[in-house]
Amino acid sequence: MDIKEQIKKIRDFSYKKMITDRTGHNFDHIERVVKMATRLSKEEKTDELITLGAAYLHDVADDKLVNDPNKLESEIKQFLKSIELEDNQIDEIIYITHNLSFSKSLSQNPPKLSLAGQVVQDADRLDAIGAIGITRAIYYGGANAETIYDPAIKPREQMNKSEYRNLDNETIINHFYEKLLKLTSMMNTPTAKEIALHRQQFMYEFLNEFKSEWLSEI
Ligand code: ADP
Ligand code: NI
Repeated sequence: MDIKEQIKKIRDFSYKKMITDRTGHNFDHIERVVKMATRLSKEEKTDELITLGAAYLHDVADDKLVNDPNKLESEIKQFLKSIELEDNQIDEIIYITHNLSFSKSLSQNPPKLSLAGQVVQDADRLDAIGAIGITRAIYYGGANAETIYDPAIKPREQMNKSEYRNLDNETIINHFYEKLLKLTSMMNTPTAKEIALHRQQFMYEFLNEFKSEWLSEI
């Protein structure tokens, strides 16, 4: 099977898995990540099949989206084998999808990613910031019944993965300070960093406006 056909089949597989998502990880998110990863991949000269394969599949077995991530990971492996990827290509794609998330970077020993993995990670992170990122954070917060804002609840400085996933004392606005505003300095590639700086500026403007409206006595 040629690469174009393999990528098309991976796209179809991802579409079926993600199209029902209602937390901000629907297939439109996947397509934006693939588009950005394609651009960064050309600049960084990373392998097309690995980069796009990982971009399409990066959220399919995510532990915040599915109950049994291991089962989905095996399903992905079987599927990739059925479309004739080599074992080392399958291992590389699975390693990236397993290790790129922000929550993994909160661990003591954050995993090291290949350049293809760094490209997909940047593309995923770029979709979490700027106007689209703001919308996704609010959408995710709504889907998880998160409080919008409470000035008495301060953003957490340090947290591990399970604290990060615990939304009891979390607010949508705090999520900007705990994650979204940190992403620009965590970008791996120069192009992603440049795009992130612009999007970050817009998030600061949004937060300033939000807080001045919240505090306003009319
Ligand atoms: P990753 O998959 O890299 O670990 P996350 O799961 O942290 O990323 O985030 C995926 C999307 O969900 C992002 O757009 C992010 O802003 C949003 N999100 C995650 N946690 C929260 C939260 N507590 N409040 C609002 N949005 C969130
Ligand atoms: Ni994603």
